Amino acid sequence: MKIRTQVGIIGAGPAGLMLSHLLYLQGVESVILEAASREHIESRIRAGVLEQGTVDLLMETGVGERLRREGMFHEGIELRFGGQTHRIDFCELTGGKGVAIYAQHEVVKDLVAARLTANGQIVFEAANVQLRGLDGARAEISFEKDGLLQELSCDFIAGCDGFHGVSRPSIPEGVITSYEQAYPFAWLGILAQARPSSVELIYAYHDRGFALHSMRSPQISRLYLQCAPDEDLSAWPDERIWTELQRRFTLAADWNLNEGPILQKSVTGMRSFVAEPMQFAKLFLAGDSAHIVPPTGAKGLNLAIADVRVLADGFKQFYESGSTELLNRYSEICLRRVWKVQRFSWWMTSLLHRHVSNNPFEERRQLAELDYVTSSRAAAQTLAENYVGLPREPY
Ligand code: FAD
Ligand code: DHB
Repeated sequence: MKIRTQVGIIGAGPAGLMLSHLLYLQGVESVILEAASREHIESRIRAGVLEQGTVDLLMETGVGERLRREGMFHEGIELRFGGQTHRIDFCELTGGKGVAIYAQHEVVKDLVAARLTANGQIVFEAANVQLRGLDGARAEISFEKDGLLQELSCDFIAGCDGFHGVSRPSIPEGVITSYEQAYPFAWLGILAQARPSSVELIYAYHDRGFALHSMRSPQISRLYLQCAPDEDLSAWPDERIWTELQRRFTLAADWNLNEGPILQKSVTGMRSFVAEPMQFAKLFLAGDSAHIVPPTGAKGLNLAIADVRVLADGFKQFYESGSTELLNRYSEICLRRVWKVQRFSWWMTSLLHRHVSNNPFEERRQLAELDYVTSSRAAAQTLAENYVGLPREPY
């Protein structure tokens, strides 16, 4: 069977779903092909921090109703080190901006519901997706659904299929230059049935390693601790996780880490990765298919949304006027933000993680940097304006 559409989108993560939603609002047709099931993408535990610009976009485009009701709106974070807690007041430092804590899979649920209510097409469990004719007259995507081979013919393809997807590897060899950096640590993350122990997020620097206190609701805590990249989860019974978290957080005497049943555990590796350019002929890469950031800056999801905003504007210009001027500059426009976000994510990561070498010079340097960030308004403001999200690139 052959289907036609204007924009074929591979992947129903935040990038693919938001792109499809924005295109719908501007009258452009799209079809999303997703390898996983709807249940899977709507329950996958991932990121949780939405920048101010992401919050505003979700609300302005009519998919922010549940976020408005259930999201937890934060005006700052805490940095904990050397036995003390220091608050970075985003609202005061950025002229009123903040972040929202709202799980990525809730954003995905809201976007899936909006697309399906508007009769948008999402093909779940699309297998063996293959891209063809990227530099020909029409791009083609073949896939199998329920054992039947199908073809999607489109003007353009948006590769929103994450780091391990099929889009980036479909680009001919030699077109893309990859920039990559690995880190010698990972995060062990848990979701726990425990009341959050603080109103805001706590990023803790400790000589046993980094720890992060986050949350998902007034009843659910999300906690992370620095571990080895090849950490074996079976060596971490619940008891050991709580003991380690207690050690890394409980520097302040009047503070208590609430415990409760652990609902989910995982180890997430860390890398920085950028593919340049983010376009080849009719294929545009967006989100994790084009770049990965280490999670310390809470930027992965937000960067994916920033990409598709630019891409949707490019398609809008094309379908309204026939001009590819903005589409031609898509990669260049996105990469300016991507590299600034890479810089920030790398900086937060190297500021807060314990280095494996245990180099005393490195430790003193980190403590001096933390002292500077929490005592200089200029330094705190730099952290704050990056964390709440840099303004959109002009174009
Ligand atoms: P994705 O959300 O990965 O979506 C891509 C979609 O494409 C998926 O639904 C996938 O099933 C689909 N797909 C893949 N291959 C194919 C194919 N061949 N055909 C069809 N569909 C395909 N960021 C943070 O800021 N904080 C965190 O704590 C955090 N934790 C994370 C934990 C994990 C395990 C991972 C993987 C990422 C985490 N991230 C985190 C990063 C953040 O979640 C991502 O940056 C964000 O999901 C990017 O959105 P995306 O739409 O580009 O990609
Ligand atoms: C969360 C994840 C992050 O990577 C981060 O920097 C802050 C919070 C979270 O999952 O809540």
